[in-house]
Amino acid sequence: MSIPERTLRAVREAQPWQPRSWQGKRATQQPEYHDPDALQRVLDQLATFPPLVTSWEVLTLKQTLAEAQEGKRFLLQGGDCAENFADCNNEVIANRLKVLLQMSLVLVHGLRMPVVRVGRFAGQYAKPRSADFETRGDVTLPSYRGDLVNGAAFDADSRRADPQRLLKGHARSAMTMNFVRALVDGGFADLHHPEYWNLDWVEQSPLADEYRRMVADIGEAVRFMETLAGEPIAGFRRAEFYTSHEALLLHYEQALTRQVPRQWGWFDLSTHFPWIGMRTNDVEGAHVEFCRGIRNPLAVKIGPSMAPAPLKRLVEILNPDDEPGRLTLIHRMGAGGIGEYLPPLIEAVKSAGRGVLWCCDPMHGNTETLGNGTKTRRFANIRSELEQAFDIHAACGTRLGGVHLELTGEDVTECLGGARDLSETDLTRAYKSTVDPRLNYEQALELAMLVVRKSGSGNPPA
Ligand code: PEP
Ligand code: CO
Repeated sequence: MSIPERTLRAVREAQPWQPRSWQGKRATQQPEYHDPDALQRVLDQLATFPPLVTSWEVLTLKQTLAEAQEGKRFLLQGGDCAENFADCNNEVIANRLKVLLQMSLVLVHGLRMPVVRVGRFAGQYAKPRSADFETRGDVTLPSYRGDLVNGAAFDADSRRADPQRLLKGHARSAMTMNFVRALVDGGFADLHHPEYWNLDWVEQSPLADEYRRMVADIGEAVRFMETLAGEPIAGFRRAEFYTSHEALLLHYEQALTRQVPRQWGWFDLSTHFPWIGMRTNDVEGAHVEFCRGIRNPLAVKIGPSMAPAPLKRLVEILNPDDEPGRLTLIHRMGAGGIGEYLPPLIEAVKSAGRGVLWCCDPMHGNTETLGNGTKTRRFANIRSELEQAFDIHAACGTRLGGVHLELTGEDVTECLGGARDLSETDLTRAYKSTVDPRLNYEQALELAMLVVRKSGSGNPPA
């Protein structure tokens, strides 16, 4: 049921808020800028730049997420752990889009429902860190916080927080958006030509046969529908893509938060779908304060340390009027922890009578460091957490409505296992991530196939 606009507006306006309100709260994970005037000059300039997305796209996505919450769509959210400036190029962007398109095709075909495609891109440039400093030998420097803040190279110059990077990040996000929009509008996502989005190595993959069969099936369905309609169906020629990133650097988000004509309230127009990370989801903290005031759909990552009572408070603060599509809870517990930690949280939200979209991130609770210092994730653990998530929601009478993944269209070897059973020695071949290990194309597709198998058996029907 949709809530009348005037009720929404009245509830929000009862709690005064400004884009800068967060500055009165404790803001963790913010870089230290040594020249506040230089930072302010950059923020003033950013505030005059065009937004990266529009309010009507944001509201359309919220409506679409409301349908996912009702069980009529499935959310596929994926992309790099962190984008970096050097990878803002044709090939990386197009390959990432191809993987997301292929995965969504598998999901649409198998789940028999539309998929909401949300990229972790066009702004996923800032990272939370568990330590403020990094020590190598006898040198200690500020941690790398993502290209929006500083450089990854281990020298004092690179690690200094540089406000100019905020402008560069905005520009690269705009270039990425522009290219994605042009590709999608230009027929790249055309269902008549799934071969446009084949990656070179699909041909050699152990999953190729299953994928080809499915593409052939879809091709027939498209021809059948168009024969029936007597004309080409326009919806088959394009696919919607939305953007998301962690709303971490609050100065940056604030500078892109705007009021727009013919709409009440404020929109964070740096992205369609910002999320609050696990390290910044404190109910009393600055990130929650910032996000509660914007009208975008929001996601919050929740991990093993989240308890039922603060979760209820979070839901209340971020979605006081229980607006459908407003709030997605992304749980990331780890394969060994989900059975213990998730059910009490589901019960808390249920007992509060609140509606949320439940989404599983099977990546971040399963990160481990090998003896040689390499950060990796085992496909078996990722798969197990996702399978358990479907079962736990089914047992609790709720529905898993989405997955959140770190993946890339590049042929990397960063996660162990999968169809080709990547081993520790394989990891040395193509390990490129500067932050978390990502699924490669094949592992990502395998996971999409798993969602289809699991969802068919576990989830209650919508
Ligand atoms: C991430 O999504 O890259 C991340 C840091 O996740 P989390 O906040 O869940 O640890
Ligand atoms: Co990550």
